[in-house]
Amino acid sequence: MNLILLGPPGAGKGTQSKRLEDKFGITQLSTGDMLRAEVASGSDLGKQAKDIMQAGGLVSDEIIIGMISNRVDHDDCKNGFILDGFPRTVPQAEALDKMLAEKSLKLDHVIELTVDDEAMVERICGRYTCSKCGAGYHDSFQKPATEGVCDKCGSTDFTRRADDNAETVRNRLNAYHEQTAPIATYYGERGILKQVDGMAAIDDVTSTLENLIG
Ligand code: AP5
Repeated sequence: MNLILLGPPGAGKGTQSKRLEDKFGITQLSTGDMLRAEVASGSDLGKQAKDIMQAGGLVSDEIIIGMISNRVDHDDCKNGFILDGFPRTVPQAEALDKMLAEKSLKLDHVIELTVDDEAMVERICGRYTCSKCGAGYHDSFQKPATEGVCDKCGSTDFTRRADDNAETVRNRLNAYHEQTAPIATYYGERGILKQVDGMAAIDDVTSTLENLIG
């Protein structure tokens, strides 16, 4: 099963992708995570992407499409994948269609998490992740059971993203509305877009998604 989770920064794409991975045995492919790994490694690609990400802009379509095309061929995508943060422009959506056709793959679901922009600033500024296993948390909405200890792996080391500040979030939201929102129309016209209320509680969003795709 192959699906796309669409939605603005903070909509819950990463949070829900990780839960769907566990439930359905499919792999989350987050272009944001891939780019952050490139930045951390100091690669040429990472150097090109770093300032753009820090400002909340979009990295070039060419770089992103090449990255995803290689990643989909890995063994862990055999059962399927969840695209999180890709496609983000209409040219990326068109390139994805072409790439899937060449690999004899298809999209089963495109799901848009609908949210209010204003709530996204609070969500993003309160977000942090476990440095060891990548589990996601929030200062108010998703605390670990024991404060300061990761529920999944027991680590006490957490990180916050460099682009998770109010100013960058506003730029990311603008980029979403200008360049990514037209994708919903693109998939709507093809009859495969479904919408889920991303303002509901995290567990309720998960149940709705599981029912929709299960
Ligand atoms: P990326 O990493 O993709 O960031 P994003 O799209 O801005 O999305 P986020 O990860 O911020 O949000 P999310 O929807 O995953 O929210 P989460 O589940 O964590 O991209 C970063 C940058 O990389 C881009 O700005 C761009 O520069 C570049 N890039 C990436 N892909 C690209 C592409 N294809 N093309 C070009 N450039 C690209 O949730 C947020 C918080 O809210 C969490 O703390 C969570 O606990 C909490 N939360 C989640 N759901 C709920 C809920 N229902 N109720 C309450 N709290 C909730």
